[in-house]
Amino acid sequence: MLHPSRYADGGRGGEMTSTLSARLACACVLATGMSTALAQEGKHPDAEAVTRVCTGTITDECIVRNFKDTLEASVIRGRLAFQNYCVLCHGPEGRGDGRAAKLHTPRPFNLTTSTAPRYYIADMVRKGGEAMGRGKGMPPWGEQLTDEQVQDVLNFLFTLRASQ
Ligand code: HEC
Repeated sequence: MLHPSRYADGGRGGEMTSTLSARLACACVLATGMSTALAQEGKHPDAEAVTRVCTGTITDECIVRNFKDTLEASVIRGRLAFQNYCVLCHGPEGRGDGRAAKLHTPRPFNLTTSTAPRYYIADMVRKGGEAMGRGKGMPPWGEQLTDEQVQDVLNFLFTLRASQ
């Protein structure tokens, strides 16, 4: 079984922020501080355009509807997919403390401490733990999730990683 310390350090994420406006305010961090793995997946919305289009409160819905090819929209979609498919085991914040966590040995991974590179995480999500020589408690998701959904989930997962 792969031990996390054996991973190449392929990911550097930004701190998860609870509101979109906070994320937008951190556009500079997104642009410069995040992993290339994350940044390569999407462009960022122009903050001025967001303020113009999403007048009043900047909601996730507005971003997803009007800026759907941006990284921010992908992260929002990924969070929703995570809430649907992953929270039961990995917990609402990805700390591996979901309601069904106790049923699994090894326990669901604390995704905030993941250091595996993006291609490895993508394989884990698509193929599941058993195919990867890991715990079979991690199901394969390649049939349920479209490629876009997998990319969205990955973008979200990288925002969970503690900033380094
Ligand atoms: C039924 C419980 C369960 C569900 C649901 C589940 N997982 Fe897991 N997951 C696990 C377990 C258990 C492990 C730990 C396997 C190990 O360490 O060998 C794991 C490990 C992982 C890892 C490996 C992390 C690393 O750094 O090595 C990733 C990534 C992951 N899960 C993502 C997801 C995503 C994304 C979803 C939702 C699409 C999901 N999981 C849904 C149980 C689950």
